[in-house]
Amino acid sequence: MPPYLAGRKQEEEEFRHLLDQTTILDNLVLTGLRGVGKTVLLETFKPLAIQKDWLWVGTDMSEAVSISEANFAIRILTDLSVVTSTFTVQIGSSQTVGFNAETKAVVQSVNYGYLHRLYEDTPGLVLDKLKVVLEFVWTLIKGTKAKGLIFAYDEAQNLADHVQKEQYPLSVMLDLFQSIQKKGIPFMLVLVGLPTLFPKLVEARTYAERMFRVVSLGQLSEPDRRDAIVKPIEDAKCPVKFTPPSVEVISNLSGGYPYFIQFICREAFDLWIQQQSHGGEATSIPADAIRRKLDTDFFAGRWARATDRQREMLYVIAKLENGDSEFSVQEIVDMSGTVLDKGFSSSHTNQMLVALSNAGLVYKNRYGRYSFAVPLMAGFILRQAEEMA
Ligand SMILES: Nc1ncnc2c1ncn2[C@@H]1O[C@H](COP(=O)(O)OP(=O)(O)O)[C@@H](O)[C@H]1O
Ligand SMILES: [Mg+2]
Repeated sequence: MPPYLAGRKQEEEEFRHLLDQTTILDNLVLTGLRGVGKTVLLETFKPLAIQKDWLWVGTDMSEAVSISEANFAIRILTDLSVVTSTFTVQIGSSQTVGFNAETKAVVQSVNYGYLHRLYEDTPGLVLDKLKVVLEFVWTLIKGTKAKGLIFAYDEAQNLADHVQKEQYPLSVMLDLFQSIQKKGIPFMLVLVGLPTLFPKLVEARTYAERMFRVVSLGQLSEPDRRDAIVKPIEDAKCPVKFTPPSVEVISNLSGGYPYFIQFICREAFDLWIQQQSHGGEATSIPADAIRRKLDTDFFAGRWARATDRQREMLYVIAKLENGDSEFSVQEIVDMSGTVLDKGFSSSHTNQMLVALSNAGLVYKNRYGRYSFAVPLMAGFILRQAEEMA
């Protein structure tokens, strides 16, 4: 967690609305580029939900979970068992012997083993089995003060259907929650992931479009950036104080992206401490040095994944005015004619964008436009090009 979570009040408000549902009509997709603050925001949602009497389970969606429907089912059973193991069910009765013989209930905890047996004993497909387990779990929870149960999965863009292997864990998840929610069972999905997440859901099941509220995280506003920079060092005992011009430099360098703010602040903080310990008085942020460090630590690894020709295309994109937001195939084709000796055709561009997506450098949004997969990439590419020239 950051020492101070800046902004995100509106997103929090949206989540609070979702918590007020008794019949679940909307689930949540929390999405945005890497480093924008999805995971830490999700962490703050959990206590809000618990405060409003929701139960909360979930973890990171690993690729392993997505390999098969069976793996996905194990994930769900495991998560459920966390809340159900405090419940017991009667599985029989026993007779004590002796003069005051009495019948005693034999109870068992609803632990993973119990849920798994129920799952196994239910005939049908993975979806049918999971439905029965979830419905059973609701019969346990219903009598308590809990309003419902939230399944929160980070890195949910990892979930996918695998047509060739005839494994559809993503579709199973959507069908499962759609069906359970139709029956009035208040089990809500909170899925967190990269911008590929929501298009993926809709591609698997068109009704996913209506099933989710999509909350997109972006840059922090100017005042929120300031808070993110200044609040953590506000304490009187803190040896470092950034001057207003320094705050502005950090804010600009970061582009408003939380990960970069953290990174730059840490670098600047260390530098100031060092200078102070040598008797000097630090007064300004060495923007160039920090930018260079950010380039090596954050961007260079991604750049290394691209082939020479792909780098040319990335350069073309970086030259676009909208390179750091969204761009189209046609815009790349047009710009390539201007900045390269040998431009790209649109079919070649399409092909290369697929390869770049697979390498995790760009992604395609729902409307067929593309974006860089990490923020501030265009600036980095232009700096690279300058150095090469
Ligand atoms: N609103 C915020 N205010 C201050 N720092 C933040 C904020 N959101 C995220 N951060 C910091 O930015 C970094 C990236 O956040 P994280 O939640 O891991 O991003 P994501 O999950 O989107 O990749 C972390 O170091 C986090 O502490
Ligand atoms: Mg994250």
